[in-house]
Amino acid sequence: MTGPHTPAAMSGFAAPFANPAGSPIRELFPYLSQPGMISLAGGYPSPSLFDAEGLAQAAGRAMTGDAQALQYGATEGLPVLRTALAALMEARGVQASGEQMMVTTGSQQAFDLLVRVLIEPGDTVLVEVPAYPATLQALRLAQARIVPVPMDEYGLQTDALADLLHQLPATQRPKLLYTVPNFSNPRGTLLAAQRREALVQLACAHGFWVVEDDPYGELRFDTADGDAAAMPPTLRAVGDLLAASGTNPVVYLSSLSKTVAPALRIGWMLADSSLLRRCAIAKQTVDLCTSPLAQMVAARYLESGRYPATVQRARIEYQRRMQALVQGIATQLDGRVQCAAPAGGMFVWATFTPSIDPQALFDAAVSQQVLYVPGKAFYPDNAQLNTMRLSFAAPEVPQIEQAVQRLAAAVALAMR
Ligand SMILES: Cc1ncc(COP(=O)(O)O)c(C=O)c1O
Repeated sequence: MTGPHTPAAMSGFAAPFANPAGSPIRELFPYLSQPGMISLAGGYPSPSLFDAEGLAQAAGRAMTGDAQALQYGATEGLPVLRTALAALMEARGVQASGEQMMVTTGSQQAFDLLVRVLIEPGDTVLVEVPAYPATLQALRLAQARIVPVPMDEYGLQTDALADLLHQLPATQRPKLLYTVPNFSNPRGTLLAAQRREALVQLACAHGFWVVEDDPYGELRFDTADGDAAAMPPTLRAVGDLLAASGTNPVVYLSSLSKTVAPALRIGWMLADSSLLRRCAIAKQTVDLCTSPLAQMVAARYLESGRYPATVQRARIEYQRRMQALVQGIATQLDGRVQCAAPAGGMFVWATFTPSIDPQALFDAAVSQQVLYVPGKAFYPDNAQLNTMRLSFAAPEVPQIEQAVQRLAAAVALAMR
């Protein structure tokens, strides 16, 4: 039976969902199930680095005691986890109490809550470009006006941002700026220290929030002489200094997804109390609270003392994988694909010669059973550029070596 009120004829979708585009990375999933495919596409941590034993012990401990892990919890998060996360922040050079911290269901949710609380259709949002696609997607669904801020090898270009801010008409004053200062997704860049200060100064002067999304900061690689590279201060810490008597404009987001396990879905937000309170109200209608079971497992895991060694293992292994990828590209791709070695994180950003058509290369890569994310996924206008993101985190070194050979074969096919 069909009629005006049967499901097939139903519509009434809200404007952003009338004709929505899905995540460009999730759209690559069907290729992943093709037999023999080697994926350099997703930002998935390596399964061989999960500390399953430590997590099993933490899960056991989470279930004993007063059953808090099985009950609803406060929207802001379990106090025991918020305190453990505050200690983690201290190790990152940020002073914070558990009350200034909100636990979220992945850091992805934290950004979504911020968008709900801050953005109305037509509002201007500054985004470093190339950008993390889910950020672009959240902003598109909120009908924000996305204004790209260019990056170079030192991260977001603050001089270009200053010029942009002068050019924007008063009616288009930005509400917030989004950046991944540490080992950005997709470019892998580390924002230079002087730019961190310049960025927070611009935010204070022009009155916009800065979202510092930091899931990768702990995955920094050793320098050539084997030392752990020093990290510049977080934007949040710079904000604490520069806005000593006023509101710190920096909202800090992070996650256990890349260092412990994405399945926990544990992220967190550190922000000014006015913003945090509103995000908590927004979260009440989304999921009431992040799974207390997952929170308790995370808290018990952090207090077990295994976290630093787990991160250390990941840093060393990801550096090996990154080197295999970057060296393979340098030696096997005849300069047709070029990239810089990142100082941490999970991604290599590569540029290929303009004589190769991006779609032809992607098709050839799929035919050669190697997958990457085409650069267009990272631009607000889906610009079809000669770029690609290659993740070295999930495949083992021999697979990475094979993936580079396949990429070389794909380049040769696409050059014809
Ligand atoms: C820059 C960035 N932010 C946020 C996320 C989402 O992380 P989570 O698993 O904590 O939601 C990712 C995951 O790939 C990411 O790359």
